[in-house]
Amino acid sequence: MDHFETIDGVLHAENVPLPAIAEAVGTPVYVYSRATLERHAQVFSAALDGLGKGGTPLIAFAVKSNPNIAVLKVLQRQGFGADVVSGGELRRALFAGIEPGKIVFSGVGKTRAELELGLTEKIGQFNIESLEEGRELAEVAYAMGLQGQAALRINPDVDAGTHDKISTGKADNKFGVPLVRAVDAFAELAGLPGLNLRGVALHIGSQLLDLDPLETAFSKVGALIGDLRDAGHTITHVDLGGGLGVPYQAHENPPSPADYGAMVARVTDRWDVQLTFEPGRVIAGNAGVLLTRVVRVKHGVRDPFVIVDAAMNDLARPALYGAYHGFDAVEPSGERTTANIVGPICETGDTFAMGRECDTLVAGELAVFRTAGAYGATMASSYNSRGFVAEVLVDGDQFAIVADRIDAGAIMDAERVPEWLE
Ligand code: LLP
Repeated sequence: MDHFETIDGVLHAENVPLPAIAEAVGTPVYVYSRATLERHAQVFSAALDGLGKGGTPLIAFAVKSNPNIAVLKVLQRQGFGADVVSGGELRRALFAGIEPGKIVFSGVGKTRAELELGLTEKIGQFNIESLEEGRELAEVAYAMGLQGQAALRINPDVDAGTHDKISTGKADNKFGVPLVRAVDAFAELAGLPGLNLRGVALHIGSQLLDLDPLETAFSKVGALIGDLRDAGHTITHVDLGGGLGVPYQAHENPPSPADYGAMVARVTDRWDVQLTFEPGRVIAGNAGVLLTRVVRVKHGVRDPFVIVDAAMNDLARPALYGAYHGFDAVEPSGERTTANIVGPICETGDTFAMGRECDTLVAGELAVFRTAGAYGATMASSYNSRGFVAEVLVDGDQFAIVADRIDAGAIMDAERVPEWLE
């Protein structure tokens, strides 16, 4: 459920009519709803309440899905931690007031500087993705007189059944240590003085619409915990990653957080470990829309082209993954049509939808791309020198700009022509 609803013929974010935001901030603009973020956070937390040792799992929001510091602040106030994958994300999480102990650091390419930053900030857990990384973390920590809290990320070789580009748990994906090598890798790393290797982690993919692959992967983790304990290791922490899908289209019916929680309860029943989860999309996806204005409608050979002022540089998912985003008029006339929805960028990839049945729109009217709160603004580029769009957070009947629009001029200001070229 989200808080983007049509009231008296006008689409609102909570109590704010979207035309008021377009008027004040311009378009395109990402609009997030605080009430929706909070609702999703609460539903997800409630679904997992009582699970694992201590009964209060750590819910570490996947910052990559929406790193805006105001969004992180909303979730910090819900008691969330953060799953970060770079020094930049780590700094954002800390800036938003997330306790270092609630931060987990994933990613295959953590640099030495990033390992040092995580150690200095005393983050809760490094999810080590390889033997090589574990050795380096141990060495760096030892040299600093510290001990890194760590879990070994395993690759369970499970097909998440999602888009190839966002699957992470198959044997030939770059993530984690193959399950068959996990016991040996664990034994080597657990013996290093700079590490407190205390558990395992996994994340098999994103936008999962079926619980079966997750259950298969979690069961493999359960067996591994047994093997590791048999080998004499102490396992106190398991991070089950993120991945729960959201409905981008009406016919999609992803498992609910409650279904997910029930499955986790069943599989982890006897694990006796503190659990961590890393949800991103399920929290932020439907908490945001991309508000855009129709530049003009151009006749096509078959369907008309509705050319909007948002483009693939602002919302990359359709161009990158062929992803579907709902497209609705802000003030629908009731008339429907079939149209191609495109942005102004000079390549055919800048197409949001072909032959889409949608509200009829004319030049100057406003529309939204739905479910744009996750992997939206964060994946933007400035291609075609279009700059970066603004982001707004709505709270009841108030709203604030939580990220300024960065225009193409500001980006150009960071460039220079060398003297020898003048
Ligand atoms: N944990 C780890 C280690 C991850 O790599 C990810 C996402 C998550 C958690 C959060 O997954 P979620 O709950 O959001 O599914 N750009 C793509 C999605 C890439 C996801 C990458 N990893 C998209 O727009 O669909």
